[in-house]
Amino acid sequence: MKLFVDTALIEEIRKLHRWGIISGVTTNPTLLAKAAATNVRDVIVQICELVQGPVSMEVVSTDAEGMVREAREYASWHEHVVVKIPMTEDGLIATRQLAAEGIKVNMTLIFNPNQALFAALAGATFVSPFLGRIDDISWEGMDLIREIAAVFRNDPHITTQILAASIRHPRHIVEAAKAGAHIATCPPQVLRKAVRHPLTDIGLERFLADWRKLQGQG
Ligand code: E4P
Repeated sequence: MKLFVDTALIEEIRKLHRWGIISGVTTNPTLLAKAAATNVRDVIVQICELVQGPVSMEVVSTDAEGMVREAREYASWHEHVVVKIPMTEDGLIATRQLAAEGIKVNMTLIFNPNQALFAALAGATFVSPFLGRIDDISWEGMDLIREIAAVFRNDPHITTQILAASIRHPRHIVEAAKAGAHIATCPPQVLRKAVRHPLTDIGLERFLADWRKLQGQG
């Protein structure tokens, strides 16, 4: 399973990219607002140049025509831009049109397996099921990943990738990988938590202490 970062904060992306584990980025209007990205185009192009992989940029139009217009504009910014389209009837119409034009779509706000199947059939490159938001309403977000993975596995024509989104903690990452997600998009703080283990810290402290002892003996 691949890992993307779910943020529009360039400095965060720059630091995490150095780890060598990040192959794409997802943004949305909320994340762009949090990053105070007033020049959105500039931010997205910088991220594309940095990661050299898929970078999701979301439309804000709600009608198919407007979505297609916005999507064409975003796709012209950089070859790595993937356009995020919400799962609605208009979203499906726009996705079908964009896929025919060769513009990659990440269908977002997926909360049931039928939505994921429809997105795939319309030609989406990625589908984004929102795990954490399902957990928030006391359902099991991971079941959705498992169901989508089973549906996609049963149709050899489907090449759409499952992009597990709304990741809230490190267990979500490994569980999504086991459930069949192709990618998990993770907030920076979740990646930072996932890299740490108290026994790693204790073990390192002991090795360094023993090394210092050895130097003292010499
Ligand atoms: C995915 O692409 C979304 O940007 C994101 O994962 C939503 O997560 P949230 O539920 O934490 O807002």
